[in-house]
Amino acid sequence: GTPDKWVPRDPRMVRLTGKHPFNAEAKLSDLYSQGFFTSTNLFFVRNHGAVPEVDIEKAKNWQVEINGLCNNPVSFSVDDLRRTFEVITIPITLVCAGNRRKEQNVVQKSLGFSWGAAGISTALFTGVRLADVLNFVHPQKGAKHVVFEGADDLPNGHYGTSQLASWARDRKRGMLLAWAMNGKALEPDHGFPLRLVVPGQIGGRSVKWLTKIELSSIESQHHLHFHDNKVLPMPVGPDQARAETQWWYDPRYIIRDLNVNSAIATPDHDQVLAATSDSEEATFVLQGYAYAGGGRRVCRVEITLDEGTSWSLAEIKYPEDLFREVTHDDPVYGRIDLTEEDTCFCWCFWSYAVKVADLSKASSIAVRAMDESLALQPRDMYWNATGMMNNWWFRVVIHHLD
Ligand code: MTE
Repeated sequence: GTPDKWVPRDPRMVRLTGKHPFNAEAKLSDLYSQGFFTSTNLFFVRNHGAVPEVDIEKAKNWQVEINGLCNNPVSFSVDDLRRTFEVITIPITLVCAGNRRKEQNVVQKSLGFSWGAAGISTALFTGVRLADVLNFVHPQKGAKHVVFEGADDLPNGHYGTSQLASWARDRKRGMLLAWAMNGKALEPDHGFPLRLVVPGQIGGRSVKWLTKIELSSIESQHHLHFHDNKVLPMPVGPDQARAETQWWYDPRYIIRDLNVNSAIATPDHDQVLAATSDSEEATFVLQGYAYAGGGRRVCRVEITLDEGTSWSLAEIKYPEDLFREVTHDDPVYGRIDLTEEDTCFCWCFWSYAVKVADLSKASSIAVRAMDESLALQPRDMYWNATGMMNNWWFRVVIHHLD
């Protein structure tokens, strides 16, 4: 039968790669109107193959093996994890490295399919800290990498990737072995019954249907670890990238942290705006999201109506502004860690009220964000063969009706 036929899916999700595998995003306006948390059925999905069929019985017997260069190798069920380690819930934004690739593919076709700007979503993830689990197995000195594997069976073996051990063992990086999303068991598309969640890094690191964690002296040798998550130098074309393995095996091109990025959700690309207003003071509120990688915070968002000659500062709403009422030590969520961290694992929402009179004179709107390392979204696209990490200014063209 058709793979995944049994997997529940929301008809509002826009399929990006035909019938199978399921790769889908919501319409940006639908995503944005969800607010800060994306309901699970509109959360973007990136699957390389068929979703592993796991029923309740299989889930109970699910084991994640943790072995390799450690003194105390173990195998844990989801229940074991829950009982052995502190349960914690963290709001986390996941972003596919291909978010906004469509804009690159318009310039020149890359190796990847066309994500709009909704290859991003935010949820509350509940689980245990990877750092605590790794401590439990007593890693040995030579364990420089932590290699992960999922249960999905792909043409080149199971899905796999790795983390530097020093990062994986750092509690501040917030990596979780998670079994719940928005307070409910993970959905099949999102890794039921157990996944890794890696905040601040490209979504490809957050291995779904997690079965293996290996402490290793070398990084993941998995095909996708090398052939997927790279920003190759600009002169390397798609054919060359495919043919010449030297590009893939150069570890300097591996992507880990997300880069700073933003998008305009309102107005959307084909929204009709009122051309004039009776009042001089009438405003239209531009809105959208921004994010940065590695736990860094977006520290400004700027808007231009004249292709970058002049900029105005947008207002930003951060996750903490939205979370104050959420309680801690919840029976389902465990400890909810929202504001204690000095790291920022979530997108923020920005808004800017522009005078309708000014808008009616403009031909485009563009947005750019800066993060606390002062990284700024560039004016020009960094086109690359895999079509990843596209973060030039996000533009919406205004068509005037006359
Ligand atoms: N894990 C497994 N086992 N198989 C996959 O195909 N896709 C990765 C990652 N983890 C993938 C995986 C990619 S590229 C992304 S962007 C995220 O999962 C997407 O997570 P989501 O589908 O829950 O949004």
